[in-house]
Amino acid sequence: MDAADMGDDLERVLLTEEQLGVRLDEMAAQIDADYAGKSVLLVGVLKGAVMVMADLARRLHCQVDMDWMAVSSYGSGTKSSGVVRILKDLDADLHGRHVLIVEDIIDSGLTLSWLLSNLRSRGPESVEIATMLRKPDAAKVEVDVRYVGFEIPNEFVVGFGLDYGERYRNLPFVGTLAPHVYSH
Ligand code: XMP
Ligand code: MG
Repeated sequence: MDAADMGDDLERVLLTEEQLGVRLDEMAAQIDADYAGKSVLLVGVLKGAVMVMADLARRLHCQVDMDWMAVSSYGSGTKSSGVVRILKDLDADLHGRHVLIVEDIIDSGLTLSWLLSNLRSRGPESVEIATMLRKPDAAKVEVDVRYVGFEIPNEFVVGFGLDYGERYRNLPFVGTLAPHVYSH
């Protein structure tokens, strides 16, 4: 899917495929340097992190395992509450592992903050976070995010794994939707 397939549903492109790729190269280089000589377990949070996971993992030269988790956050409307239920747990045992959580976007940071303490309780050697995007509200939560792709404005975005009603995840760029899409 590309901009041309969206008709007039696209408002504007925030981050092009090229910008995302360049930043992913930089993030991968940094992760490779930080985990040199170590094996890292990438933990992707379904479903949004699928694209970041695939694109980041393929750029890494360090030894990588990949695992997935699906969580649902109870909240009202579009805001998450920080009360989280595990829909699909990890297959991997985290004991002694270097875990790197891979996220598409951090908004309130509540989901991530829960996930962090949950994974930390499983005896890993280390747990760090990599996210492609971060919104301004994330600053309110005391979560140290080691790798951030881009800081974006407080707007709803789609593409590169992010959806509106499960659509637009397969856009290669990150963009905003025209107002008429939300009024359907
Ligand atoms: P937190 O707990 O950080 O939750 O508020 C982050 C989750 O909220 C969703 N989210 C978005 N999804 N476009 C999306 O498609 C957005 O702009 C957006 N902002 C937040 C997303 O599921 C993320 O994992
Ligand atoms: Mg979503």
